[in-house]
Amino acid sequence: MNYKIDTARLSLRPPQMIDDSRLYQLMSQEDITTFLSWDAHQSIETTRAVISGLIESQNAEKGYHWCIYHQDAIIGLVSLIDVRRKIRTWTLNRAEVSYWISPNFQGQGFATEATQAVLEFGFSKLSLHKIIIAHAVANGASKRICEKLGFEKYAHEHDAFKKEGQWHDLVWYEIIKGK
Ligand SMILES: CC(C)(COP(=O)(O)OP(=O)(O)OC[C@H]1O[C@@H](n2cnc3c(N)ncnc32)[C@H](O)[C@@H]1OP(=O)(O)O)[C@@H](O)C(=O)NCCC(=O)NCCS
Repeated sequence: MNYKIDTARLSLRPPQMIDDSRLYQLMSQEDITTFLSWDAHQSIETTRAVISGLIESQNAEKGYHWCIYHQDAIIGLVSLIDVRRKIRTWTLNRAEVSYWISPNFQGQGFATEATQAVLEFGFSKLSLHKIIIAHAVANGASKRICEKLGFEKYAHEHDAFKKEGQWHDLVWYEIIKGK
C-alpha cells in the first residue's frame, strides 16, 4: 500500500531510519512531552530505537505512523496506534490517533490538517470503522483539535495516567466512518 498522504500544506510520509537526526532534534525538546507517554530523548540512540519500533509496528500493521513535513522540514508526527481488527467473533476495525507538532510550528492549524488527512486515510484506505482519541484534561490545544475534527466525547477517565508525580484525567472521543 502507498502510505504517502499530501494535504494543502503538508506531506505525510512513514518514518525511516534516515530521519533519525531530524527526529532527534524534535524529540529531544522538553516542552512537547508534558502530556505524552514518553520523555524527551536524551540521545539519538533512543530516537533510532523509537523509529525502529514505529517501522516494526507498521510492518505488522499494528500501527501506522507519518512524519509531518512542511516545506521539506519535519515538523511533527501523527500516528494511528493500538489498531484492533478483531476480537474473537467481533469485528472492531478501530484505532487511536495521536500527534505532536514541534513548538516552532504550533498554532498554524498543522496538527488539525494532518490529523484530518489521517482520519480520511484510516477510513478509506485502511478500512477502519472507528477512530478514537484522548487528551489530558489540561491539554486545551488537543481538546480544541478534537472539537474541530468533529469527534464526539464518550468518556471521562479519572486518574488515567501518572506523569512526574501527578495523576491526569483523560477525556475520550470517537469518530465513526460515515457518521
Ligand atoms: C496539541 C498540539 C499537537 C497542537 O498542535 P497545533 O498544530 O498547534 O494545533 P492546531 O493549530 O491544528 O490547533 C490547535 C487549536 O487549539 C487552540 N489552542 C491552542 N492552545 C490552546 C489552549 N491552551 N487552550 C485552548 N485552545 C488552545 C488553537 O487556537 C487552535 O484552535 P483554533 O484553530 O480554533 O484557533 C501541539 O500543541 C503539541 O504537539 N503539543 C504537545 C504534544 C501533545 O500534547 N500532543 C497531543 C496529545 S493528546
